[in-house]
Amino acid sequence: MSELVLIVLARAIHVMSGVAWAGAALVLATVVLPIATRHGADGAARWLALVARRAGTLVAVSAPLTILSGMYLFAALHPHDASAGGSVLKTGAAAALLSAAVGVLFSRPAGRKLLQLNQPSAQAGAASLETVRQLAGLRMRAAVSARVAAALLGVTVLAMATFRYASALV
Ligand code: HEM
Repeated sequence: MSELVLIVLARAIHVMSGVAWAGAALVLATVVLPIATRHGADGAARWLALVARRAGTLVAVSAPLTILSGMYLFAALHPHDASAGGSVLKTGAAAALLSAAVGVLFSRPAGRKLLQLNQPSAQAGAASLETVRQLAGLRMRAAVSARVAAALLGVTVLAMATFRYASALV
């Protein structure tokens, strides 16, 4: 396979998986988790936990694909790029890696614990005050970390959209 074909393939995978990652992260941060935080106690929690699990799976598949294809594109096309555009590209890539770290270190553990506590077996009988407090804390932690992760991906998307023109602007 020629290098050009590999680059076109990597770009196609990169843009498609990047869109899926950023889109899922945005919907989680701005739709699912705020509703779960506000209306979780009114019975919405179980359904929203299922939605969040699906979106989490989408992120778990699309984020590594975006990062691996991005690393390949970096090595193939911008190995020693010291231009302004290269700096914008590096800033965007760093923000995406940071976002992935926030997801792995904060959002995923909070989401897993929430799913466990939302299991029907865990909910049998009246939830203790301690469990209610724990659930509220976990929802807040998941919502804040999802917002931080989505904001970092916002920086990435802006950087990826503009890096080609940065050198012409400065
Ligand atoms: C959600 C995350 C990401 C999204 C949505 C995204 C999106 C994009 C898009 C749309 C382009 C094409 C821009 C253009 O050709 O003008 C692009 C290019 C690029 N991206 Fe990303 N990206 C993401 C994360 C990353 C990461 C983590 C890396 C590196 C580890 C990376 C490295 C690159 C490189 C090197 C290019 C330039 C390819 C070329 O010159 O043809 N991206 N990205």
